[in-house]
Amino acid sequence: MSFLKIQVNKSAKRKRIEDKAVSRRYSGLRATTLGFYAKHIFPRLLDWSLGSPEMGKYRRKALDHARGRTLEIGFGTGLNLPWYPDEVTQLTVFDSENMLPELVEKRISQSSIPVTRLQLDASGHLPFDDHSFDTVVTTFTLCSIENLPAALSEVRRVLKPDGRFIFMEHGRSDSSQIARWQDRLNPIQKAIGVGCNMNRRIDDLIREAGFEINSLDRFLMPKTPRLLAEMYRGIATINE
Ligand SMILES: C[S@@+](CC[C@H](N)C(=O)[O-])C[C@H]1O[C@@H](n2cnc3c(N)ncnc32)[C@H](O)[C@@H]1O
Repeated sequence: MSFLKIQVNKSAKRKRIEDKAVSRRYSGLRATTLGFYAKHIFPRLLDWSLGSPEMGKYRRKALDHARGRTLEIGFGTGLNLPWYPDEVTQLTVFDSENMLPELVEKRISQSSIPVTRLQLDASGHLPFDDHSFDTVVTTFTLCSIENLPAALSEVRRVLKPDGRFIFMEHGRSDSSQIARWQDRLNPIQKAIGVGCNMNRRIDDLIREAGFEINSLDRFLMPKTPRLLAEMYRGIATINE
Protein backbone atom coordinates (compact mmCIF):
# COMPACT_ATOMS: atom_id res chain seq x y z
CA MET A 1 0.00 0.00 0.00
CA SER A 2 2.71 2.43 1.07
CA PHE A 3 4.80 1.41 -2.01
CA LEU A 4 1.83 2.25 -4.21
CA LYS A 5 1.42 5.59 -2.45
CA ILE A 6 5.08 6.43 -3.07
CA GLN A 7 4.72 5.43 -6.71
CA VAL A 8 1.57 7.54 -7.02
CA ASN A 9 3.29 10.46 -5.33
CA LYS A 10 6.32 10.02 -7.54
CA SER A 11 4.26 9.92 -10.72
CA ALA A 12 2.18 12.88 -9.53
CA LYS A 13 5.43 14.79 -8.89
CA ARG A 14 6.83 13.74 -12.29
CA LYS A 15 3.57 14.84 -13.93
CA ARG A 16 3.81 18.24 -12.20
CA ILE A 17 7.40 18.62 -13.44
CA GLU A 18 6.36 17.57 -16.96
CA ASP A 19 3.36 19.90 -16.84
CA LYS A 20 5.66 22.77 -15.80
CA ALA A 21 8.06 21.98 -18.65
CA VAL A 22 5.18 21.88 -21.16
CA SER A 23 3.78 25.11 -19.74
CA ARG A 24 7.24 26.76 -19.96
CA ARG A 25 7.61 25.54 -23.55
CA TYR A 26 4.07 26.73 -24.32
CA SER A 27 4.51 30.16 -22.72
CA GLY A 28 7.87 30.50 -24.50
CA LEU A 29 6.15 29.68 -27.78
CA ARG A 30 3.28 32.04 -26.93
CA ALA A 31 5.70 34.86 -26.09
CA THR A 32 7.57 34.25 -29.36
CA THR A 33 4.34 34.13 -31.37
CA LEU A 34 3.01 37.27 -29.68
CA GLY A 35 6.40 38.95 -30.07
CA PHE A 36 6.43 38.11 -33.79
CA TYR A 37 2.83 39.31 -34.17
CA ALA A 38 3.47 42.54 -32.23
CA LYS A 39 6.73 43.28 -34.06
CA HIS A 40 5.99 42.28 -37.64
CA ILE A 41 2.28 41.82 -38.28
CA PHE A 42 0.58 44.35 -36.00
CA PRO A 43 2.48 47.44 -37.30
CA ARG A 44 1.47 46.57 -40.88
CA LEU A 45 -2.14 45.97 -39.85
CA LEU A 46 -2.09 49.28 -38.00
CA ASP A 47 -0.61 51.19 -40.91
CA TRP A 48 -3.14 49.67 -43.30
CA SER A 49 -6.22 50.09 -41.08
CA LEU A 50 -5.44 53.65 -39.92
CA GLY A 51 -3.89 54.87 -43.16
CA SER A 52 -6.85 55.04 -45.54
CA PRO A 53 -7.46 58.31 -47.47
CA GLU A 54 -10.79 58.64 -45.63
CA MET A 55 -9.00 58.43 -42.30
CA GLY A 56 -6.68 61.15 -43.62
CA LYS A 57 -9.62 63.56 -43.81
CA TYR A 58 -10.35 62.99 -40.12
CA ARG A 59 -6.69 63.45 -39.26
CA ARG A 60 -6.53 66.73 -41.19
CA LYS A 61 -9.62 68.04 -39.41
CA ALA A 62 -8.13 67.27 -35.98
CA LEU A 63 -4.62 68.51 -36.74
CA ASP A 64 -5.78 71.72 -38.39
CA HIS A 65 -5.63 73.34 -34.93
CA ALA A 66 -1.95 72.50 -34.32
CA ARG A 67 0.46 75.45 -34.04
CA GLY A 68 4.10 76.22 -33.30
CA ARG A 69 6.33 73.75 -31.48
CA THR A 70 4.34 70.51 -31.47
CA LEU A 71 4.76 67.19 -29.66
CA GLU A 72 3.13 64.03 -31.00
CA ILE A 73 2.86 61.11 -28.58
CA GLY A 74 2.44 57.57 -29.96
CA PHE A 75 3.76 58.47 -33.41
CA GLY A 76 3.28 54.88 -34.69
CA THR A 77 4.07 54.75 -38.40
CA GLY A 78 3.86 58.51 -38.93
CA LEU A 79 0.40 58.64 -40.49
CA ASN A 80 -0.30 62.15 -39.18
CA LEU A 81 2.72 63.72 -40.88
CA PRO A 82 1.07 64.80 -44.17
CA TRP A 83 -1.84 66.42 -42.33
CA TYR A 84 -0.05 68.99 -40.16
CA PRO A 85 -0.77 72.60 -41.17
CA ASP A 86 1.98 75.08 -42.14
CA GLU A 87 1.55 76.81 -38.77
CA VAL A 88 3.44 73.94 -37.14
CA THR A 89 7.06 75.10 -37.00
CA GLN A 90 8.75 72.09 -35.40
CA LEU A 91 7.61 68.57 -34.61
CA THR A 92 8.95 66.34 -31.84
CA VAL A 93 7.49 62.85 -32.12
CA PHE A 94 7.95 59.74 -30.06
CA ASP A 95 6.66 56.23 -29.55
CA SER A 96 7.52 53.44 -27.16
CA GLU A 97 8.05 51.15 -30.19
CA ASN A 98 10.16 51.45 -33.30
CA MET A 99 7.62 50.32 -35.88
CA LEU A 100 8.48 49.87 -39.56
CA PRO A 101 11.56 52.12 -39.17
CA GLU A 102 12.41 52.41 -42.88
CA LEU A 103 8.89 53.43 -43.84
CA VAL A 104 8.74 55.90 -40.93
CA GLU A 105 12.11 57.47 -41.87
CA LYS A 106 10.92 57.81 -45.47
CA ARG A 107 7.74 59.58 -44.32
CA ILE A 108 9.78 61.90 -42.09
CA SER A 109 12.15 62.74 -44.95
CA GLN A 110 9.16 63.74 -47.09
CA SER A 111 7.81 66.15 -44.48
CA SER A 112 8.37 69.87 -44.94
CA ILE A 113 8.35 70.34 -41.15
CA PRO A 114 11.58 69.68 -39.19
CA VAL A 115 11.00 66.48 -37.22
CA THR A 116 12.85 65.13 -34.17
CA ARG A 117 12.00 61.49 -33.54
CA LEU A 118 12.59 59.69 -30.23
CA GLN A 119 11.76 56.36 -28.64
CA LEU A 120 10.20 56.97 -25.21
CA ASP A 121 7.54 55.66 -22.86
CA ALA A 122 4.82 58.30 -22.52
CA SER A 123 4.15 57.41 -18.91
CA GLY A 124 7.71 58.04 -17.76
CA HIS A 125 9.29 61.44 -17.10
CA LEU A 126 9.64 63.06 -20.55
CA PRO A 127 12.96 64.75 -21.38
CA PHE A 128 11.32 68.12 -22.13
CA ASP A 129 11.14 71.32 -20.11
CA ASP A 130 7.96 72.37 -18.38
CA HIS A 131 5.61 74.41 -20.62
CA SER A 132 7.76 73.93 -23.73
CA PHE A 133 5.18 72.94 -26.38
CA ASP A 134 2.47 75.02 -28.05
CA THR A 135 0.60 71.87 -29.06
CA VAL A 136 0.52 68.25 -27.92
CA VAL A 137 -1.17 65.71 -30.23
CA THR A 138 -2.41 62.18 -29.69
CA THR A 139 -4.38 60.16 -32.24
CA PHE A 140 -5.52 56.58 -31.53
CA THR A 141 -2.97 56.45 -28.71
CA LEU A 142 -4.68 57.12 -25.36
CA CYS A 143 -6.34 53.70 -25.73
CA SER A 144 -3.05 51.87 -25.49
CA ILE A 145 -0.89 53.76 -22.98
CA GLU A 146 -0.94 51.52 -19.95
CA ASN A 147 -0.49 54.18 -17.26
CA LEU A 148 -2.63 56.87 -18.85
CA PRO A 149 -2.94 59.20 -15.80
CA ALA A 150 0.89 59.39 -15.62
CA ALA A 151 1.12 60.16 -19.36
CA LEU A 152 -1.58 62.84 -19.22
CA SER A 153 0.14 64.42 -16.25
CA GLU A 154 3.29 64.73 -18.41
CA VAL A 155 1.23 66.23 -21.26
CA ARG A 156 0.00 68.84 -18.78
CA ARG A 157 3.53 69.54 -17.56
CA VAL A 158 5.11 70.06 -21.01
CA LEU A 159 2.24 72.05 -22.53
CA LYS A 160 2.44 75.85 -22.39
CA PRO A 161 -0.25 77.47 -20.21
CA ASP A 162 -2.02 78.71 -23.36
CA GLY A 163 -1.15 75.57 -25.36
CA ARG A 164 -3.57 73.12 -26.95
CA PHE A 165 -3.86 69.40 -26.38
CA ILE A 166 -5.38 67.98 -29.57
CA PHE A 167 -6.76 64.47 -29.39
CA MET A 168 -8.59 62.12 -31.73
CA GLU A 169 -9.22 58.83 -29.98
CA HIS A 170 -11.62 55.93 -29.90
CA GLY A 171 -13.16 54.91 -26.61
CA ARG A 172 -16.18 54.06 -24.53
CA SER A 173 -19.64 54.33 -26.01
CA ASP A 174 -22.37 56.53 -24.50
CA SER A 175 -24.75 53.63 -25.08
CA SER A 176 -24.72 51.43 -21.98
CA GLN A 177 -25.49 48.38 -24.10
CA ILE A 178 -22.50 48.96 -26.41
CA ALA A 179 -20.27 49.88 -23.45
CA ARG A 180 -21.17 46.57 -21.76
CA TRP A 181 -19.96 44.70 -24.85
CA GLN A 182 -16.82 46.85 -24.92
CA ASP A 183 -16.14 45.81 -21.31
CA ARG A 184 -16.81 42.14 -22.06
CA LEU A 185 -14.62 41.98 -25.17
CA ASN A 186 -11.88 44.34 -23.98
CA PRO A 187 -9.49 41.52 -22.95
CA ILE A 188 -9.66 40.10 -26.49
CA GLN A 189 -9.17 43.56 -28.02
CA LYS A 190 -6.17 44.14 -25.73
CA ALA A 191 -4.54 40.96 -27.04
CA ILE A 192 -5.32 41.56 -30.73
CA GLY A 193 -4.61 45.30 -30.50
CA VAL A 194 -1.36 44.88 -28.52
CA GLY A 195 -2.57 46.73 -25.43
CA CYS A 196 -5.42 48.71 -27.02
CA ASN A 197 -8.44 49.27 -24.73
CA MET A 198 -11.79 50.03 -26.34
CA ASN A 199 -13.68 50.95 -23.18
CA ARG A 200 -11.86 54.08 -21.92
CA ARG A 201 -13.98 57.17 -21.27
CA ILE A 202 -11.49 59.49 -22.98
CA ASP A 203 -13.06 62.85 -22.09
CA ASP A 204 -13.37 62.00 -18.39
CA LEU A 205 -9.77 60.79 -18.26
CA ILE A 206 -8.54 64.02 -19.86
CA ARG A 207 -10.58 66.17 -17.44
CA GLU A 208 -9.39 64.14 -14.46
CA ALA A 209 -5.81 64.91 -15.51
CA GLY A 210 -6.41 68.65 -15.01
CA PHE A 211 -7.60 69.77 -18.44
CA GLU A 212 -10.61 71.70 -19.56
CA ILE A 213 -12.12 70.38 -22.79
CA ASN A 214 -12.86 73.33 -25.05
CA SER A 215 -14.34 71.37 -27.93
CA LEU A 216 -15.42 67.77 -28.25
CA ASP A 217 -16.88 65.94 -31.26
CA ARG A 218 -18.37 62.56 -30.58
CA PHE A 219 -18.98 60.56 -33.75
CA LEU A 220 -18.87 57.07 -35.20
CA MET A 221 -15.92 56.35 -37.48
CA PRO A 222 -17.41 55.05 -40.76
CA LYS A 223 -16.58 51.54 -41.99
CA THR A 224 -15.36 50.55 -38.52
CA PRO A 225 -16.81 47.88 -36.22
CA ARG A 226 -19.12 49.67 -33.78
CA LEU A 227 -17.15 48.68 -30.68
CA LEU A 228 -14.07 50.46 -32.09
CA ALA A 229 -15.87 53.27 -33.90
CA GLU A 230 -16.80 55.49 -30.92
CA MET A 231 -14.67 58.57 -31.54
CA TYR A 232 -13.62 61.46 -29.30
CA ARG A 233 -12.04 64.35 -31.21
CA GLY A 234 -11.31 67.57 -29.42
CA ILE A 235 -9.09 70.25 -27.98
CA ALA A 236 -8.22 70.62 -24.31
CA THR A 237 -6.34 73.31 -22.42
CA ILE A 238 -4.77 73.35 -18.99
CA ASN A 239 -7.30 73.89 -16.24
CA GLU A 240 -5.66 76.39 -13.89
C1 LIG B 1 -2.98 52.51 -32.48
S1 LIG B 1 -1.37 53.14 -32.57
C2 LIG B 1 -1.66 54.77 -33.25
C3 LIG B 1 -0.47 55.32 -33.97
C4 LIG B 1 -0.62 56.76 -34.49
N1 LIG B 1 -0.82 57.69 -33.41
C5 LIG B 1 -1.71 56.89 -35.51
O1 LIG B 1 -2.61 57.72 -35.32
O2 LIG B 1 -1.65 56.18 -36.51
C6 LIG B 1 -0.95 53.49 -30.89
C7 LIG B 1 0.48 53.89 -30.71
O3 LIG B 1 0.72 54.23 -29.35
C8 LIG B 1 2.00 53.74 -28.99
N2 LIG B 1 2.11 53.62 -27.55
C9 LIG B 1 1.44 52.77 -26.73
N3 LIG B 1 1.84 52.93 -25.47
C10 LIG B 1 2.79 53.90 -25.47
C11 LIG B 1 3.57 54.50 -24.46
N4 LIG B 1 3.47 54.13 -23.17
N5 LIG B 1 4.44 55.46 -24.82
C12 LIG B 1 4.55 55.86 -26.11
N6 LIG B 1 3.83 55.32 -27.11
C13 LIG B 1 2.95 54.35 -26.79
C14 LIG B 1 2.06 52.40 -29.71
O4 LIG B 1 3.38 51.90 -29.82
C15 LIG B 1 1.44 52.76 -31.06
O5 LIG B 1 2.39 53.22 -31.98
